[in-house]
Amino acid sequence: MLSSLNEQQLETLAAASARRNFPKGRTIVAEGEPSQSLYILLSGRAKVQRSDSEGKEVILAVLGSGDFFGEMSLIDDAPRSASVITLESCDFMSINKDSFKAILMQNSEVSLAIMRGLVKRLREADKKIETLALLDVYGRVARVLLDFSENVDGERIVKNKLPRQEIAKMIGASREMVSRVMKGLEIDGYIVPLPEGRLMLREKISSYIG
Ligand code: CMP
Repeated sequence: MLSSLNEQQLETLAAASARRNFPKGRTIVAEGEPSQSLYILLSGRAKVQRSDSEGKEVILAVLGSGDFFGEMSLIDDAPRSASVITLESCDFMSINKDSFKAILMQNSEVSLAIMRGLVKRLREADKKIETLALLDVYGRVARVLLDFSENVDGERIVKNKLPRQEIAKMIGASREMVSRVMKGLEIDGYIVPLPEGRLMLREKISSYIG
């Protein structure tokens, strides 16, 4: 995104940005608040979350290094659409809203990169709607596990510990229900627990998502 900027734009951006580190559990942007900045996640993971008036929470996405956030209220000047909370220690680049907006107006490559990010999010949101509307709880858990897994020497491994509570918030189920489903998947040999909270997924788990 930044490679298309000319020297003057890069200088403007450098003057308007700051690198910051936040520990685990820190709210970087809060739902409903006015926006000041756009953020790029340089390292670590953070969750995008909304909550209702009773404090019930839903996780919309988990962001990783290279992802940006805070662009929505930057574009429409509405309050923050969701909260972004660190899941581990994270490094960010924060960029002042007005400076970034000025660059966005001048540089179509940067605008296009932001649009690509928004389209990616819409595709993921479509997939999530499909999951919630069409799959049962086993299917929803299976989809989360597959989405968070990576190929390690030919095996599908979930490397980062995924607390049951966090899975529950992603799929609109209770923690108890997720625990029951995970136990069932383990007994039936769909998932195999590994040391340090990692999980190995057997190929047959895909049968739950059709
Ligand atoms: P903003 O509304 O400024 O602040 C909250 C940010 O969360 C938002 O911008 C997006 O960057 C991000 N966000 C909101 N909804 C989603 C989603 N469904 N998937 C990924 N990121 C999102």
